[in-house]
Amino acid sequence: MKNDFQYIIHNDGDVSKKDPAKAKQMFPIERARDARRFHRQIPGFQMTPLVALPNLAELLGVGGIYVKNEAERLALRSFKVMGGSYAVYRLLLQILGREDEELSFAYLTSDACRAQLEGTVLCSATDGNHGRGLAWACQQLHLPCKIYVHQETSKPRIEAIARYGAEVTVVKGNYDDAVRQAAEDAEKNGWYVVSDTSWPGYEQIPTWIMQGYTSMLLEAQEQFAGLGIVKPTHVFVQAGVGAMAASVVGFYSALFPDDPPLFVVVEPDKAACIYESIAAGDGKCHSVKGSLDTIMAGLACGDPSPLAFEILRDNADVFVAVPDNVAARGMRILGMPLHGDPMVVSGESGAVPLGTLFALCTDTINDDLKAALKLDHNSQVFMVNTEGNTDPIEFRRILWDGKNPTPAKFRIVR
Ligand SMILES: Cc1ncc(COP(=O)(O)O)c(C=O)c1O
Repeated sequence: MKNDFQYIIHNDGDVSKKDPAKAKQMFPIERARDARRFHRQIPGFQMTPLVALPNLAELLGVGGIYVKNEAERLALRSFKVMGGSYAVYRLLLQILGREDEELSFAYLTSDACRAQLEGTVLCSATDGNHGRGLAWACQQLHLPCKIYVHQETSKPRIEAIARYGAEVTVVKGNYDDAVRQAAEDAEKNGWYVVSDTSWPGYEQIPTWIMQGYTSMLLEAQEQFAGLGIVKPTHVFVQAGVGAMAASVVGFYSALFPDDPPLFVVVEPDKAACIYESIAAGDGKCHSVKGSLDTIMAGLACGDPSPLAFEILRDNADVFVAVPDNVAARGMRILGMPLHGDPMVVSGESGAVPLGTLFALCTDTINDDLKAALKLDHNSQVFMVNTEGNTDPIEFRRILWDGKNPTPAKFRIVR
């Protein structure tokens, strides 16, 4: 193998090998529009930019690179709030027995509504950004919020959650242990779990969360239309439990079932649970155990979300598991761009798709992978910078001190 990351060519862009049925059912365009109508009522809510990097595209030999910059999503620096807030909205409609209505944000924050929601407590586990988004949504809606983090979660991430009034519990073990503890305590105390990952018997809320993410993709499609681009030809998307990747892959597969973009799903090699599940070849989810020790904190998940996995298994084309240095290089490229390209502040989990694209276009890679990717001057590559500088100390270590350098054999020689 020439490259230092693992890959699986799954569907190879061959539409006949795909099955968008579940994607069409989970991601109807009407749901994305409903989520967008809700999001647009949030005070201060704005569309995030779709950033074009034309000079980098030329350097890499592709037609265009477009980065949906979620570092600028509200004050939260991450896309995650799109899912959490929409799921809370749908859950409140259910608790209030008004599922067939569209309630306004103003009503949901009113005293009358608050009185009806007396005693409602929301809770979730997080590896950082989902908890921050959920805590923020609960603060907006005046609801108590309990967030569970694992022992390796950095202090700045915990403080960012607590700042929005949530009670934070640190759990021994990894992210998956925090998920289990949150579910157990919720059951004991009668709290509502608003988890971004699903498990057997717990699917409704994770579905709403994934549908909430598609509001961001509606924005992107509107922005592409403004550029005269009907759809991207390639989508590079990062995965933790896979919910966000499934929403991207599912949204585009439902919208363009006969001619979807080519999807590349990217994970850290130390927490590649989707990759390992595909590699197992039995169509089922498989877990990755251990400390999941990667700088990509948002992607450090060992258990795939079964709901998300189905969508990825049935529609994605290439799965890659990359080392941390690929994400670190992505952060540096986005933060210190070529002359004429705009700067994008990107955190570890946000930058890994760009780092992967860069590696695929510049490092020596295996011929079968190169052929499967079909990247050329006609390619319009889309990715989401899912987070900005969400962990300032780690961000400085990587950008300023050169932590996780590119291995010598892949460095620029000219
Ligand atoms: C910044 C960031 N990017 C991507 C993801 C991946 O999302 P998912 O766990 O749905 O795969 C996360 C998850 O927390 C995240 O925080």
